[in-house]
Amino acid sequence: MALVPYAEGWGLQGLRSPWATFRFAGRTLRLRQDWQRLGVAAVVWDAAVVLCAYLEMGSVDLRDRAVIELGAGTGLLGIVATLLGARVTITDREAALEFLESNVQANLPSELHPRAVVKELTWGKDLDNFPPGAFDFVFGADIIYLEETFGELLQTLEHLCSEQTVILLSCRIRYERDNNFLKMLKGHFSVYEVYYDSNKDIHIYKAQRHSHKDDF
Ligand SMILES: C[S@@+](CC[C@H](N)C(=O)[O-])C[C@H]1O[C@@H](n2cnc3c(N)ncnc32)[C@H](O)[C@@H]1O
Repeated sequence: MALVPYAEGWGLQGLRSPWATFRFAGRTLRLRQDWQRLGVAAVVWDAAVVLCAYLEMGSVDLRDRAVIELGAGTGLLGIVATLLGARVTITDREAALEFLESNVQANLPSELHPRAVVKELTWGKDLDNFPPGAFDFVFGADIIYLEETFGELLQTLEHLCSEQTVILLSCRIRYERDNNFLKMLKGHFSVYEVYYDSNKDIHIYKAQRHSHKDDF
């Protein structure tokens, strides 16, 4: 089981490449990318790759667990979580959904298609479409980057999480303002760094509602 999977033409060249290729959960995954037309949602970010590697290491048991992914982009993380046994609701803004759906369909065997549902979730909007507390895990890769969305992202996490729900967020801290989101998160959840990839400079944080502090 490789900790660091391979990506063809990573970095800038990777951004321009229409395909990013990875090996996870015993399968080769080929994600379509379109940075020029669709921007941030249509390239695979290091944070997703690192969180996939963390999950593949067996850090959490995803078999038959209910997962929701926020800001899924190309869908790599949701695809890998499905391959590792979870039932996954893979979400993003409306504009990203068609591209996301095509990657999910192309990379999952047909028998797993019913276990991966692509749905619109714009943070803070129409949250009643998602039953509160219905998920065992909330995943997000590189979704802490727009300060104007921090309040809505936090509101979304608060809506989705029961006391049992575990949040896993992977991110690169690019600016001091990114830490502001973590401070906001700590006001409502117990937050711990569980992994750091120094090569890619990606942190993975685990969060759970305060009363479960002792479980970490
Ligand atoms: C940097 S990309 C990360 C994509 C993917 N998670 C990855 O790591 O490869 C940020 C993602 O957050 C999504 N996003 C940004 N603002 C959002 C919002 N207000 N509601 C829902 N998704 C949002 C974008 O569409 C994009 O897919």
